[in-house]
Amino acid sequence: MSHPLEELRALALSEIATAQDEQALESLRVRYLGKTGSISVWSEQMRSLSKEERPVVGKLLNEVRNEVTAALAENSERLRAAHEAASLSNIDISLPGMPAEIGALHPLTQMLDRAISIFRRMGFSLAEGPEVETEWYCFDALNTAPDHPARNEQDTFYLPDGRLLRTHTSTVQIRTMQAAPPPIRVIAPGAAYRRDEVDATHSAQFHQIEGLYVDEDVTVGDLKGTLEFFLRELLGPETEIRFRPHFFPFTEPSFEIDVKSRALKGGEKWLELTGCGMVHPAVYEEVNRARGDNAYDPEKYAGFAFGMGMDRLAMILFDIPDIRLFAQNDLRFLRQFA
Ligand code: PHE
Repeated sequence: MSHPLEELRALALSEIATAQDEQALESLRVRYLGKTGSISVWSEQMRSLSKEERPVVGKLLNEVRNEVTAALAENSERLRAAHEAASLSNIDISLPGMPAEIGALHPLTQMLDRAISIFRRMGFSLAEGPEVETEWYCFDALNTAPDHPARNEQDTFYLPDGRLLRTHTSTVQIRTMQAAPPPIRVIAPGAAYRRDEVDATHSAQFHQIEGLYVDEDVTVGDLKGTLEFFLRELLGPETEIRFRPHFFPFTEPSFEIDVKSRALKGGEKWLELTGCGMVHPAVYEEVNRARGDNAYDPEKYAGFAFGMGMDRLAMILFDIPDIRLFAQNDLRFLRQFA
């Protein structure tokens, strides 16, 4: 004669196997395994069994509990799969799909990426700084006197607390030197702001790549070689490059660089692209004051810096007629660069 536990097992397994939904399975689980379920009741009765019976029944009870638990899990999975198959059977796989919209990089980002990868090959690493800056980083530390016209309220966006939107990326020169001693070889791409009258070629926001190279024995020759290599990589080997003397408070000597290239639309015109020069000793002195050391000893170190406008370059390279298009988010414009 079979043990009542074996009958219980047979009944439970057949009920579980024929359960039609999750709810039915759940009530079977409660009936057999719940606190007052029949299997649990058996466990409690174990204590009243004789010494000889106890191991035999205990073993059987464990088997039954394990099998019922496994059957519940198996059948729950069977129901879930059947449910899924039923809901998929209504789908017509011959219908055309919905095309996914594929995004693309903004033309200015593409331009910056190209430029960054060329500088990386020359060993420049990336640096960055905030767009909301203090006057010290934007002007004072860059040897720019309090009465310099760039600081005029008419030309610059000041915040009520006295900070301002940086008017150039040269702020990152100071932040980089403050944070680490020489040698320094960084580029800092980013946005800058000026209160320009907005038209097809002027925008209140524009983009620059700043560069800074400080080490022993750096000369104007290094500056010239670096920028010539960069521009010929970017615009083609036959690109013509012109250095014109210029003035910036934070470099001495200072230059502006113009380029002429057939790669650029309107190819026969000179395009004014970059301000640059050898870092002015007064900049090192102010950095040393802020650092509290003499890491940038102007007797020992020299360096060059440049700030290259990226918007006009992208406009000419991609034949974009109006600078405002960069910020208007018009998909008809942006899709042309996807
Ligand atoms: N910051 C200058 C500008 O925006 C460019 C520049 C950068 C000049 C570094 C010299 C050195 O016009």
